[in-house]
Amino acid sequence: MEYRRFGRTDLKISEIGYGMWGLVGWSGSNQDEVWKSLERSVELGCNFFDTAWGYGEGRSEQILGKLLKQYPDKGLVTATKIPPKNRRWPSKSHFTLEEVFPSDYIEEYVNHSLKNLDVDCIDLMQFHVWEDAWAQREEWQETIDKISREGKVKFWGISINRWEPNNALETLKTGKIDAVQVIYNIFDQNPADQLFPLCREMDLGVISRVPFDEGTLTGLLTKDTVFPADDWRSTYFVPENLNSSVDHAEALRPLVPANMDMAEMALRFILANDDVHTTIPGMRREKHVRANIAASDGKMLEKSLLEQLYQHRWDRVPTDWSQ
Ligand SMILES: NC(=O)c1ccc[n+]([C@@H]2O[C@H](COP(=O)([O-])OP(=O)(O)OC[C@H]3O[C@@H](n4cnc5c(N)ncnc54)[C@H](OP(=O)(O)O)[C@@H]3O)[C@@H](O)[C@H]2O)c1
Repeated sequence: MEYRRFGRTDLKISEIGYGMWGLVGWSGSNQDEVWKSLERSVELGCNFFDTAWGYGEGRSEQILGKLLKQYPDKGLVTATKIPPKNRRWPSKSHFTLEEVFPSDYIEEYVNHSLKNLDVDCIDLMQFHVWEDAWAQREEWQETIDKISREGKVKFWGISINRWEPNNALETLKTGKIDAVQVIYNIFDQNPADQLFPLCREMDLGVISRVPFDEGTLTGLLTKDTVFPADDWRSTYFVPENLNSSVDHAEALRPLVPANMDMAEMALRFILANDDVHTTIPGMRREKHVRANIAASDGKMLEKSLLEQLYQHRWDRVPTDWSQ
């Protein structure tokens, strides 16, 4: 496993981190297998774990807490998130700070996460949604300063809404935020336009989430794929999205090198960008953990392939199903 400096936090984090949403929120999770996957990831050098109170109302955080107890000497880095008070993902531009992140609520949820994780201090606490219109509001700024002074959180981050990579730029310029989490993958390349240059200039940590476009970039979805009604993906991969996502993935297939699969190519595309410090595939199977961590071997995709992949950029805007 290769490690990267996580911006000005000076943490050294594994360039393949662990996305902990699916293991409680998606159908088809086998808890024994999930646990083995988590153990294997630590043994193979993964030290960055991304969870959220919103993943199973604290259950994913509790699983991470158990992992921290099992590996007290591994220096595992904990990233979690405060859910929006109005429980609406993502936020909309007309939502007010008062309805999404009032000060007492921010404090309350930091305390919930500390309890779920069973730690005294969280390495990275992220806002699970964000609106840049809140940038200059003193309430959240003073609240996070207070929480940091109390020693409950080391660093603060924003998880930027899907397909809105510029919806935090003014907030980052306040200097209060240490890291961003954003969708960046072969399709979603637009964070490289404005967000990454700003993060580079300000020396902020960058987490690339959803490396496989929720599964499309594994090349395993087909136009006939059906998710159970209680699986979040059934509301995301509506026919309009599933059909065009599969078409975009199929267009990539001829580019996949003979010695890799599409998932590996997708991860190596992200790792080729130095502005990214870790990417956090969702993983619930040991074989996925092994495969994804193996992509962190310091070897780069051919430049000519990267040039071709840049042509597969797919700019999308939020819709009523995109969430
Ligand atoms: N708003 C937010 O802040 C937000 C939103 C979305 C996601 N996230 C974070 O980002 C993480 C990653 O996103 P995601 O989990 O939604 O999507 P993702 O990483 O793009 O895709 C996850 C899917 O890829 C599969 N997979 C993983 N490795 C594979 C491999 N080598 N070959 C084939 N399939 C593979 C997984 O299967 P298995 O599950 O069967 O292993 C899972 O179905 C989340 O877990 C969460 O931590 C944050």
